[in-house]
Amino acid sequence: MQKKVPYIEKRKKQSVMIVDEKPFIALSGEVRNSSASDLQYMEEIVWPNIKELHLNTLIVPVYWETVEPLEGQFDFTLVEGLIHQAREHKLKLIILWFGSWKNGCSTYAPEWIKEDRGTYPFVKKKSGQQIYSITPLCKEAIHKDANAFSMLMKRIREVDENEQTVIMVQVQNEVGSLETDFDYSEEALKLYKQKVPSIVESYVGKSGTWEELFGEDSKEFFMAYHYATAIEEIAAAGKREYNLPFFVNAWLEQFPYRAGIHPSGGPVSKVISFYLHLAPTIMACAPDIYVPNFIEVCDEFAKEQDILLIPEARQDVVTVSNFLYSVGAYSLGCFSPFGIEDIAFRDKEVDKELLKSLSIEATAFDSTGTYPYICKAYEIIGTLYQLICSMKEKNQVFPFIREYVGETGKIIELNDCDMKINYKSVDTNYVPIPAGMIIQVSENEAFVVGTNINVEIISKKDSEKQYGLLALEEGSFVEGIWQRKRILNGDERQINVDDMPNVLRVKWHQY
Ligand code: DGJ
Repeated sequence: MQKKVPYIEKRKKQSVMIVDEKPFIALSGEVRNSSASDLQYMEEIVWPNIKELHLNTLIVPVYWETVEPLEGQFDFTLVEGLIHQAREHKLKLIILWFGSWKNGCSTYAPEWIKEDRGTYPFVKKKSGQQIYSITPLCKEAIHKDANAFSMLMKRIREVDENEQTVIMVQVQNEVGSLETDFDYSEEALKLYKQKVPSIVESYVGKSGTWEELFGEDSKEFFMAYHYATAIEEIAAAGKREYNLPFFVNAWLEQFPYRAGIHPSGGPVSKVISFYLHLAPTIMACAPDIYVPNFIEVCDEFAKEQDILLIPEARQDVVTVSNFLYSVGAYSLGCFSPFGIEDIAFRDKEVDKELLKSLSIEATAFDSTGTYPYICKAYEIIGTLYQLICSMKEKNQVFPFIREYVGETGKIIELNDCDMKINYKSVDTNYVPIPAGMIIQVSENEAFVVGTNINVEIISKKDSEKQYGLLALEEGSFVEGIWQRKRILNGDERQINVDDMPNVLRVKWHQY
């Protein structure tokens, strides 16, 4: 029987992605923008470099300019090659459709679109100058993009529906207008003065002009409306061919928090529910998180939607701690450091100028030290994921992360006793900060997963009960069964995890 295509399942306490009919988290990495344009480069540089990382998924772009180099003439060599390579390496793929927009620009549109300014106009700044970005008001461009995307999805279904190597698709990449908050073209200015369309009225619950309904954010909401409706047309055309989960990603708002500094109209947190209303074919707006306030961003995005996807994360070591925490804390469907093929290169150059132009701090791309830690963290979570999902349904997963320098730890309140998570002091940026989760599997037994922690079982406040360890084991899960390695007793009788992420089985009793 044909297996169901991947989908998102809403459960009582969480949402999970179902792939091959089982809960699945994409333990992923996103390749650099140009890598997937050359299958030989992928074979020689990318696949060998990611071999030991314990990824189960690779995120790769597919570019409109290569899919439809001449209008109406399609070429799927690259995407078919990527699917073939992924199967050989036993990985799933998440595909990024670099169509009309990539980081707010139209750099990946085919030549025949880029050269025809009359038919496919760019966004205009107040000064009348254009930015290198097709206006989302351009119906002709959207129809052409939707047509190319539907052809791509059709081909993916033809070659992959049985095997299901491709599990999800991102529609466009970091859409929005940079350097301007608004498209100051005549058409946009005219529409902006009118009453909002009825679909926007139904979102707000009343009618009015953009300014009346959205006040100082009205230009950004106007742009968001046009990007989201363009995305809906494109995504719906793709979905008619192949019903995979689709999402969009966001370049986050950053200081000084003005539209145009981040792409105006992109799916930032304040417009998530607006986007999901206008583009129901999209199941999530995903944050690309290079900023240091990781938890705040995750909280903002997670509260607005069922599932949290992080298709782009930092490369430095803190990413390992962020990953361990977010698996425990959210309905996380995907985690993916950007430029994954670079993580194995120890001394790679960081292009500070490029990062500055992308508003990314250089430390986010300093991957010194990350490689062994992320390998181990992905390995552990890969084997524990089914257990984590089932224990989340019983509210028995307790995540933690050190939120500021000097924070000493966290108390996790269990039924009979508490767990005191002591955060080790970490005095370099090149080891993971304390983070992880407790997975309680019975009244007196838990798996401690984490890095740089030391755990004690203590009595509840105002109680003098004493607790001893019945079992403390190193080990790992193999096909869902705990296989113990060393029993830790005597000198090693401490619930302790150093830098390298680890999992320990702990059983305790009252004496
Ligand atoms: C965010 C974009 O989505 C990525 O494609 C890439 O450009 C990174 N920024 C920076 O390298």
